[in-house]
Amino acid sequence: MARGELLKKLLGSYGRDDEFRAVAEQIIDEEEKKNNRVLAKSLRQTLDAGPRRSSVAKALAPLIPFPEAAADFVERIEPRYNKNDIILSPTNVRLLLSLVHEFRRADDIRRHGLSVRSKLLFCGPPGCGKTLCAEIFAAEVGLPLFVVKLDRLISSYLGETATNVRKIFEFARKQPCVLFFDEFDALARSRDDSGEHNELRRVVNSLLLFIDRIQPKGFLIAATNLDNSLDPAIWRRFDEVVWFEKPDRSMIKRFLSHKFKNVPTSFDPAIRVSAMEGYSYAEIDRLCTQAIRSMIIEVREQLKEHDLDRAIEDEARRRAGNARFEPTT
Ligand SMILES: Nc1ncnc2c1ncn2[C@@H]1O[C@H](COP(=O)(O)OP(=O)(O)O)[C@@H](O)[C@H]1O
Ligand SMILES: [Mg+2]
Repeated sequence: MARGELLKKLLGSYGRDDEFRAVAEQIIDEEEKKNNRVLAKSLRQTLDAGPRRSSVAKALAPLIPFPEAAADFVERIEPRYNKNDIILSPTNVRLLLSLVHEFRRADDIRRHGLSVRSKLLFCGPPGCGKTLCAEIFAAEVGLPLFVVKLDRLISSYLGETATNVRKIFEFARKQPCVLFFDEFDALARSRDDSGEHNELRRVVNSLLLFIDRIQPKGFLIAATNLDNSLDPAIWRRFDEVVWFEKPDRSMIKRFLSHKFKNVPTSFDPAIRVSAMEGYSYAEIDRLCTQAIRSMIIEVREQLKEHDLDRAIEDEARRRAGNARFEPTT
């Protein structure tokens, strides 16, 4: 985007913290792309040093009693992270912010006879922030987060499961919350299964029907590692699809400067970005944590290049090991 346009957007977002930060990140990204590293670094330091409002501190909506029978299948998660803990692409920042704003003006939108987007599908490879984002999103909109344990729900299909599914949805219809179906793939897979589990298929189909019909008071979010292979019958049930990709070089850089924010280093960790290309955030996070551990074990005040290099090597070995166990079909 042209610089003038970005500056206009930046000034226009005055007083709205989230938007201001998103536009500022965009400006920094552009400087990085133009190779103005020194300027980009100092802009980021300035941005990170600025005051921050805790987004978790918002009052949560009042809770209605949770149905006993569903307790085995649904877990309430207290928000542990806030938006400063996740690295998101500018597109996803914009998309998620627009959903937050829409939720806050839901009544006005409905008064105009329009619906509010409330069913979201998070897609992308493992370790790229789907679960983390659901948690942060719930904190941002100030709603309690309930995670549905799909694997348990599906494997316990005998007898009362259909009733339990109904109870979960009845609860979500009344309770403003984020109802999160993590590892939604389990559902897609079991729907494909052409085994004799008629009962199971019936439960899965009724779950899909409930998803179809529900107009949640908050949000229904499903996360899946599958992408195009997902059944179109599942896709069309969602108002919005959010993609979580593996980080490119500039996102890895952002992740590293966030991760090593409070760690003194004797070098710029960004020089190792290319060695981490193709890794997920979770993998990069793990190797960075390992590098920090080495520094602590060796009772040093500074992280050295070889701490990171060794951790990168170990992660590469781990990946090679995993590949050996992957099915070859
Ligand atoms: N976009 C991201 N920004 C920062 N950290 C991330 C991101 N994605 C993943 N992580 C790190 O990896 C961990 C696992 O990510 P998770 O959200 O569970 O991935 P997914 O649900 O996509 O498999 C997180 O707890 C966090 O430490
Ligand atoms: Mg996950």
